[in-house]
Amino acid sequence: MIEMERATTDTIILAKDLKKYFPVRGGVFSRVVDYVHAVDGVSIDIKKGETFGLVGESGCGKTTFGRTLMRLIEPDGGRIVFNGEDITKIKGKDLAEIRREMQIVFQDPFSSLNPRMTIKKIVGEPLLLNGIKGKDLRERVIDLLALVGLNEEHMNRYPHEFSGGQRQRLCIARAIATNPKFIVLDEPTSALDVSVQAQILNLLIDLQNRLGMGYLMISHDLSVVRHISQRVAVMYLGKIVEKGKTEEIFENPLHPYTKALLSAVPVPDPDRKRNRILLTGDVPSPVNPPSGCRFHPRCPYVKEICKEKEPELKGDERSVACWLY
Ligand SMILES: Nc1ncnc2c1ncn2[C@@H]1O[C@H](COP(=O)(O)OP(=O)(O)OP(=O)(O)O)[C@@H](O)[C@H]1O
Ligand code: SF4
Ligand SMILES: [Mg+2]
Repeated sequence: MIEMERATTDTIILAKDLKKYFPVRGGVFSRVVDYVHAVDGVSIDIKKGETFGLVGESGCGKTTFGRTLMRLIEPDGGRIVFNGEDITKIKGKDLAEIRREMQIVFQDPFSSLNPRMTIKKIVGEPLLLNGIKGKDLRERVIDLLALVGLNEEHMNRYPHEFSGGQRQRLCIARAIATNPKFIVLDEPTSALDVSVQAQILNLLIDLQNRLGMGYLMISHDLSVVRHISQRVAVMYLGKIVEKGKTEEIFENPLHPYTKALLSAVPVPDPDRKRNRILLTGDVPSPVNPPSGCRFHPRCPYVKEICKEKEPELKGDERSVACWLY
């Protein structure tokens, strides 16, 4: 099988042609009248200990992809291989076991922490589910708090007693409690003050260096993704349009959409001013994506073929889906 061949021993997770369509209901009988093509055939592979960035405008399908990859929502097509095992269809005990090895950290650290639970309970909950109790549990919670820059004194406090940055540290402590091999980071710094964002990113990098997890870093903030990722994929309306090593993508974007996204990022060096490319038109609906290349109604380089035929994502390490290449 092709997908198994691509899953080399250093791959932690691989998605092949992953799809998620959400039904749109309408009419008096609430029948399914259409589908939101949220994730429409996405293939990526993430290596052990690697951070893979996923960028794109709001609504392009980043969160849906992350959640489908973790089997938190059911895929409608494609395959997922985790640590050499096909997990696309696993259920029950097998799925519960895999869930311990994959974790997710969300954007809003407040809503993902139960306000009535102490920090000891919050961080200790996944351990308790794994049968760790008493003194061992307490020691492990103290170790986890230390790993994320908090300490024993914090154990009996409640989430509201912490700052936004500290709360995100707690979410991270809980996520790493079961020694996961892979973590989806869904905009983990977007809700935080700019001054705290770098601290959390550096904490994530430090933990990865110590513990060796693979990360999928989802963000619409390109500077965050550039700071933390070794490779990046750019998503547009449910599809990947460009993928490659972070430096190559940022230094030499090929796809017109990537060029436009990057042109909007301020450049610190005034001699290297970018010409800002303004995208015309709104983001089209993922219910009825445009024909051919989905970006064609907004693309300054559009050709006749772009409206009719969909360009494939071509290339291996550096790939791009555009008729110009
Ligand atoms: N449970 C759902 N039911 C129906 N449609 C959904 C559901 N979840 C997401 N969608 C739709 O799927 C598309 C992709 O949404 P998603 O949240 O994955 O985007 P995103 O890239 O994470 O956006 P953002 O940057 O705003 O977080 C959107 O059109 C969204 O409205
Ligand atoms: S395929 Fe055509 S419309 Fe799409 S990005 Fe390339 S040039 Fe633009
Ligand atoms: Mg999202």
